[in-house]
Amino acid sequence: MRCTVAWAAALAGLALGRPAPENKAALAPRAGQAIVDSETGFTFSEYRAPNTLNSNIIYRIAVPQGATAPFDLVVQVIAPSSVGWAGLGFGGSMVRNPLAVGYANGQKATVSSRWATGHSEPASYSGASYKLLSTGNKVNSTHWQYTAKCSGCSQWQGSSGIQRINAAGSGRLAWAASLTKVPQPGSNSSSLTMHSAFNYWSHDFYTGANANFAELLARNGG
Ligand code: HEM
Ligand SMILES: *[C@@H]1O[C@H](CO)[C@@H](O)[C@H](O)[C@H]1NC(C)=O
Ligand SMILES: *[C@@H]1O[C@H](CO)[C@@H](O)[C@H](O)[C@H]1NC(C)=O
Repeated sequence: MRCTVAWAAALAGLALGRPAPENKAALAPRAGQAIVDSETGFTFSEYRAPNTLNSNIIYRIAVPQGATAPFDLVVQVIAPSSVGWAGLGFGGSMVRNPLAVGYANGQKATVSSRWATGHSEPASYSGASYKLLSTGNKVNSTHWQYTAKCSGCSQWQGSSGIQRINAAGSGRLAWAASLTKVPQPGSNSSSLTMHSAFNYWSHDFYTGANANFAELLARNGG
């Protein structure tokens, strides 16, 4: 019965061209909401990408306070089980910027480093690498989550020169996700089926600045 009511409300929301009111809080895009992750201790700047009418993919980034690119950063992604892969574009687009593509693999997730030169399946990218931390990685009955250190995500050679993430400011990021599971989840070079959704947002990196970044990394096996 509850299901029927929620569905009816969702339909009513669709008819009005906006999410149903009871889903509003869950769906509101928040770019730069500070989240202190109790498991890892990192302060992240969080964005919630609307995955469906009532679920989000959560993208979180922690940066070292006061750092000038290139610096290592920590990325945490929490996706509903229905999501096959979830990607993050550090320069705010699909093409010519580091892409972090994550997918569930048993009790952990695999994070794959990719780079696209066009709107086709992104290739492996050796300019960035990801190391899962010893904490913040899990798969449960509703979600999969990864927390990784990225080396190479804060600076790259873009289409018009060197691009950098400003740890003291904000910048455009992009996300994309597919509902299709990847065929080889244990491999970081698995093939990917094209996204079912994507979008951009302006991310406030400063909100996720950590004065004790190095100490937190060490504490979490990074
Ligand atoms: C099999 C892999 C992929 C294929 C075949 C693919 C293909 C495409 C195509 C055809 C478009 C243009 C869509 C349109 O304009 O309506 C597009 C746009 C886009 N894709 Fe992908 N994509 C793939 C993977 C990814 C990944 C891993 C990301 C990670 C963030 C991503 C992010 C985006 C974004 C943000 C756009 C919007 C336009 C842009 O920023 O360039 N894609 N993709
Ligand atoms: C996959 O992992 C290996 C070993 O860590 C690394 O050298 C390689 O760059 C990674 N490839 C991708 C696509 O992430
Ligand atoms: C699964 O993990 C996610 C992410 O940490 C959490 O939000 C969710 O509540 C967990 N679900 C269950 C059933 O424990």
